[in-house]
Amino acid sequence: MKIGIIKKLIAVVAVTTLAIGMVGCGNTEKKDTGNAGTGTTKTAGSTLEAIKSKGKLVVGTSADYAPYEFHKEIDGKDQIVGFDIEIAKQFAKDLGVELEMKDMAFDGLLVALQADKVDMVFAGMTPTEERKQNADFSDIYFVASHRFILRSGEEVSISKIEDLKGKKIGVQKGSIQEGIAKDNFDADKIKSLDKVPDLILDLKNKKVDAVLVESTVADITVQKNPGIAIASNLEVKDPDGGCAVAMKKGSDLKAEVNKTLKKLQDENKIKQLFTDANKLAE
Ligand code: ARG
Repeated sequence: MKIGIIKKLIAVVAVTTLAIGMVGCGNTEKKDTGNAGTGTTKTAGSTLEAIKSKGKLVVGTSADYAPYEFHKEIDGKDQIVGFDIEIAKQFAKDLGVELEMKDMAFDGLLVALQADKVDMVFAGMTPTEERKQNADFSDIYFVASHRFILRSGEEVSISKIEDLKGKKIGVQKGSIQEGIAKDNFDADKIKSLDKVPDLILDLKNKKVDAVLVESTVADITVQKNPGIAIASNLEVKDPDGGCAVAMKKGSDLKAEVNKTLKKLQDENKIKQLFTDANKLAE
């Protein structure tokens, strides 16, 4: 009887300590988030350790961008797959932890990173100067240009940006393609949506007339969707572009993820993963 009570007491004390511990954690996190950009280094610096001790890497993505990341039913189960996902898997494996994917709007990915909802972002993300103010990026692991997709037949007359004047341009909200559109077209001619497949639907339904995406995404999208085509005479080059992994500023994950990327490059696996992802997306 007495032992039972003591055991219960110990349990209560343990739970209370845990709860206090958690509250403490919560507070620290909030403080750090509030200091984003200035005081985050300390917390971010210990990310690697934190991930290893929780045994899990939480990765944010916007799974609407085949072949980089997309949904596919495999064995009757909806799964997030793709080029980036394979790299993320490899990285989690190198760290010796599990991988958890969180799918969200592209626009919300860096916000989620700041708010500690995700440890990293694998989303074909281009490390722009603006984004670098709020996040660190790995080395670039893939480079692509951009292409406009139009309804079949309409793409043939497009060879320069001016040929698209008067047309409604669809872009992903928060993407660099949205920036390119803003630099070249009037605001009332741009429609920004969260997910790329919705843009393609809008294109087919004549709610937009052209969609701007990475050329790699354009290729697979037209292959899968009859009735649309790439304006192949108009390439929007992006010499400073390419995609990289995003993580919190000052994060000690950067050196680690660069190691994984270098290993994959050296073993010629990046190319292979890209080819495999394209096959899976077909
Ligand atoms: N590379 C472009 C950017 O960084 C588009 C990336 C979109 N990625 C996605 N998963 N939808 O803005």
